[in-house]
Amino acid sequence: MPKVIAIINLKGGVGKTTLTVALAEFLSTHHGKRVLVMDLDPQTNSTIMLIGQEKWKQLNKRELTLAGLFRHEVEDRKGRFDLGACVQPQVGNVDSVTTVDLIPSSLDLIDLQDQIPPVSPASYRLKSSADVLWRSASSVIEDYDYVLLDCPPALGTVTLNGLRIADGFLIPVIPDVLSTYGVKPILDKVREFSRRIERRIKPLGIVVGRYKSISNLHNATLESLSEHSGYPPVLAPFIPDSVHIAEAANFHLKYTTLKQKYGYSGTAFDAFSGLTEQVLHITKG
Ligand SMILES: Nc1ncnc2c1ncn2[C@@H]1O[C@H](COP(=O)(O)OP(=O)(O)O)[C@@H](O)[C@H]1O
Ligand SMILES: [Mg+2]
Repeated sequence: MPKVIAIINLKGGVGKTTLTVALAEFLSTHHGKRVLVMDLDPQTNSTIMLIGQEKWKQLNKRELTLAGLFRHEVEDRKGRFDLGACVQPQVGNVDSVTTVDLIPSSLDLIDLQDQIPPVSPASYRLKSSADVLWRSASSVIEDYDYVLLDCPPALGTVTLNGLRIADGFLIPVIPDVLSTYGVKPILDKVREFSRRIERRIKPLGIVVGRYKSISNLHNATLESLSEHSGYPPVLAPFIPDSVHIAEAANFHLKYTTLKQKYGYSGTAFDAFSGLTEQVLHITKG
């Protein structure tokens, strides 16, 4: 069975998508893992990073995104939605990354998620609004070693559907004051949801992004995060604030290797590489 990891923070712009994509890439090239990225965020950032805008438009028209799954549910269509048909094989902009697949997201999810009934109607299929993905995903995800869930910065129905299949979660933060306020609410909410579904969703760690080693604020914030009792460990290494990372988000830039993408001499490459090893370590067994 795959390890399913949600990448989640209630704050936007903290590096969730960047981390999801990089982890997928490094798990693939450095560790030979088969990885499925599920883009649960209607902003479709990881989708666009991995397949580009044009391809996404075609798929969206053909309902081959997560919106197709939720529309099927909302309209109570017959039969089971074929989530496998949504899987885009071998995605990304790096030649050496050959084992990362994607289930794309869609802007349509914004409206759709409001229409998903919160409690079960007469239809026996709809046990809970948080079970939609779970019911369709099992046969699709069993082919992978890792499934990474790029979550939106909200705990709406789509995110809960992701948590429903997650074994653990990572919380990316920027170590400044505002970005770390979100850590406790996420821990509380996921714990509460985990209790409701009677399934453990393990807090795997806090991942530090856009780190500036010269910033006193960043270093002080990190210290307080590490010392906070009840918080999961702050994983090392930290991801530096790096132009390579920001530029590499463009699908239309093509790379041969991850060193080329994240910088030969910079620490971005080393940080992602080290973090991936950490994630493998804490999810093994
Ligand atoms: N370590 C980093 N250094 C520089 N830019 C970064 C870094 N991490 C993320 N970014 C940039 O910051 C923005 C937000 O990151 P993103 O991963 O999309 O966050 P989220 O998914 O949490 O909204 C993007 O433009 C991204 O390229
Ligand atoms: Mg994102």
